[in-house]
Amino acid sequence: MSTDVPTDDDRPVLDVAGLEVHYGRGRRRRRALHGASLTVHSGETVGVIGETGSGKSTFARAVLGLVRSSGGRIRIAGEEVSGYSHQQWRALRRRGVVQYVFQDPLRSLDPDLSVGESLIEPLLIQGVPRQEAIARGRAYLARVRLDEELFALLPGELSGGQRQRVAVARALVAEPALIILDEPVSALDSANRVGVLEILKELRDAGVALIFISHDLGSVAGVADRIAVLYQGELVEVGDARAIINTPRHPYTRLLVGSAPTLRSAATRAEREALRALLHA
Ligand SMILES: Nc1ncnc2c1ncn2[C@@H]1O[C@H](COP(=O)(O)OP(=O)(O)O)[C@@H](O)[C@H]1O
Ligand SMILES: [Mg+2]
Repeated sequence: MSTDVPTDDDRPVLDVAGLEVHYGRGRRRRRALHGASLTVHSGETVGVIGETGSGKSTFARAVLGLVRSSGGRIRIAGEEVSGYSHQQWRALRRRGVVQYVFQDPLRSLDPDLSVGESLIEPLLIQGVPRQEAIARGRAYLARVRLDEELFALLPGELSGGQRQRVAVARALVAEPALIILDEPVSALDSANRVGVLEILKELRDAGVALIFISHDLGSVAGVADRIAVLYQGELVEVGDARAIINTPRHPYTRLLVGSAPTLRSAATRAEREALRALLHA
């Protein structure tokens, strides 16, 4: 049920079809994803929503080759990667074509590397000269609205919101075809959540392809062009964000839209207003 949006480059940055993932062996074998199909074009932001355990992180991990798929296919920037070996996946990740931002920024960032070192590492791997890498790293700090002074600090010296912005900046520096953000705002307080959502919206407007995963429709609603709804391992509905919110078709989507807690009971007035502004921008 994908509604493909035509773009300048018609080749999708991500093309997933009929993806199956199982965990465990023998009697313990459980299906975590069933027949998941999703395309993401360059410049597009796709939200993936669903409750805890619906398979969101599994989808992200499969697309990064961190968990093996048992069926279906994955194409990244036109490259057929489904049959890749561990080594090939690792090489693909090192090339930085797809970047991943976790819910907990401490997992995305090496605690022993300064912010600056974390930012320039992907560039050095790509062979960018050190001085140029530093200049680009600083520019990306500004892009996520962080002060240059943070360059020399360790992740442990930053607030949760600052760390998550550094993780986003680190994902950006290598100029990947696609960034997958798995619950990027779920661990943040409301002020930082709004700040990171604004940055994601700026990235979307600048044409960076994003997959924004969240259990919270309210967080995704203002940022995503399209929304994919995962329910018990199946993508039950994929469509234009407004259509999903205004005329949800699947009963589970209706339930999600009807109860979207962030829209109704956003903790602070500022957050409510920011969410409303994002939704109506
Ligand atoms: N490493 C794993 N081993 C076994 N089962 C797992 C593993 N990771 C996730 N699962 C199971 O797969 C299902 C989907 O999990 P997950 O993708 O983490 O969902 P979500 O991110 O939507 O919360 C859940 O039932 C979960 O318990
Ligand atoms: Mg998850």
